[in-house]
Amino acid sequence: MLSQAMIDRLNEQINLEMYSSHLYLQMSSWCAYKALEGCATFLSQHADEEMMHMRRLLNYLHETGALAVIGGMQAPPHYFSSLTELFEQIYEHEQSITRKINDLVHLANTEPDYSTLQFLQWYVAEQHQEEFLFKGILDKINLIGTEGQGIFFIDREVSNMAANKGKEATAMTAAQ
Ligand code: FEO
Repeated sequence: MLSQAMIDRLNEQINLEMYSSHLYLQMSSWCAYKALEGCATFLSQHADEEMMHMRRLLNYLHETGALAVIGGMQAPPHYFSSLTELFEQIYEHEQSITRKINDLVHLANTEPDYSTLQFLQWYVAEQHQEEFLFKGILDKINLIGTEGQGIFFIDREVSNMAANKGKEATAMTAAQ
């Protein structure tokens, strides 16, 4: 049994995860438009992951007998001045999501709501991985640079990351 405050905050998080999915899908489309196929594939995969994050929250609300509410969604930005700006925006966005997860954990801890506190541990670990992932891409962009052939090598690096994610997903499906 969840408090109304917790239901409201979990619903807010559902909509934030869905917005994240829309944001990455839009960014994937921008990359495809700019012939950056590796980045487009990687971000499209990430949009799917965000929907999975959303569904975990949705299922948790269902399991606790609460109503999930899908709200209206703001359109994500669709113009980026460069690939660097795009990944900087992603890194800032993920840091803002981490702050939202931290707020949720704080609420669960203070109510106290130990079931939700335990449920949220997966998101705490996931946000650590996502910040690490996108900080790593930004570091590569800054190291290689986007001048001349640099952008080609960055797209290839990100393409390799997308291929590895695809293999991990296949292995997980086979293990189930
Ligand atoms: Fe659902 Fe990218 O955090």
